[in-house]
Parts: sequence; C-alpha cells; structure tokens
Amino acid sequence: MFKEITTKEFGGNAFSMIGRDWMLITAEKDGVANTMTAQWGGMGYMWGKDVVYAVIRPQRYTKGFVDAAKRFSLSFLPEEHKKTMTYLGTVSGRDEDKIKKSGLTLAYADGVPYFAQSDTVITAKTLYAQEMAGQCFTDAPLAGQWYPEKDFHTLYIAEVEKMLVKEQEK
Ligand SMILES: Cc1cc2nc3c(=O)[nH]c(=O)nc-3n(C[C@H](O)[C@H](O)[C@H](O)COP(=O)(O)O)c2cc1C
Repeated sequence: MFKEITTKEFGGNAFSMIGRDWMLITAEKDGVANTMTAQWGGMGYMWGKDVVYAVIRPQRYTKGFVDAAKRFSLSFLPEEHKKTMTYLGTVSGRDEDKIKKSGLTLAYADGVPYFAQSDTVITAKTLYAQEMAGQCFTDAPLAGQWYPEKDFHTLYIAEVEKMLVKEQEK
C-alpha cells in the first residue's frame, strides 16, 4: 500500500535516489506502457511549482510515450531490483515486452503507470521539453564526451502531481 505525501514531507536525497540508486521513467500511450531506467535528472522548483527533471535521448522508445502522454512517473525501487533495472535500461521496449519479462507489476495513479514494487513514486506532468544543443555547453568537452553521435538528450521539466511512499508493513 502507498501513502500520498506532499513534497514538503518528502525526506529523500535526490542525489542518491537518482544518481546512485536510479529510477524508472514510465509512461503510457494508446493503452500500452513503456519504461526505461534513468540515472540523470533532478528534483527542484521552477515557475512556482515543485518539479522533476529528466533527460531522454531521442532513440529511447520511452520518449515517444512521454511526448504523447505529457505525463510520466518516476519509480524508485529498492536495491533488490537493481538487476531488473539494469535489464530495463539495456533492452528496448521496441524489441521485447520488457515490463512483462521484468516481473514488475504496473499500477496506476490518475491514469499514470508506475511500479507497485517501488519505495517512492512521483507522477508528473511535463511543462517544458527542449533538446540540448552542442553550442550551449559552457563546458565544451562534455558535449564531445557524452554525445559523440550528437544524440542530445531532451530535457524535460515536469510538475510533480503526486508523491507516493510505500507504507511499512505492520
Ligand atoms: C543505469 C542506467 C541509467 C540510464 N539513464 C538514462 C537516462 O537518464 N536517459 C536516457 O535517455 N537513457 C538512460 N539509460 C538508457 C536507457 O534506459 C536504455 O537505453 C533503455 O534500454 C531504453 O529503453 P526503451 O528503448 O524501451 O525506452 C540508462 C541506462 C542505465 C542502465
């Protein structure tokens, strides 16, 4: 069971939750959900709203789902699912039914898919999407290091709609 909390009540460390423990970005299009692992992103405040940031490369199948739905979830799973997250971040939903194969269970919050195995879930509505550009890097070598194929991420800034945390079993 999940309990809804406010961003003010949230006590997580975004640096470790995203950068070290990773997250799943999940969205639904035409009644089908797709998910991918992500390690880059953030949480913050923009335009008077609590927001999350995610970056998605153009070749990710999940990108089309996020663009179509304009809503997505970030699912944060316990350590025991790291192998599954590696799988979901290596194989594309274009090639196999990876959600089914992962053994994870889809759940929905206001129509936005997330995973029942999560510790923490954030659902969000996209506010802004922009493809990064090589000439915008103030640290120019970064562009060459991370984008030798020029497949620049699209940056999404999305308003937090719901924050859910798993309730401890009594
Ligand atoms: C640990 C890890 C972190 C990742 N972080 C990102 C990310 O932040 N952005 C991105 O576009 N791809 C990222 N990826 C790659 C995608 O998860 C991967 O390409 C995935 O297979 C895409 O699946 P899809 O084609 O079904 O969307 C990451 C992969 C791993 C394993």
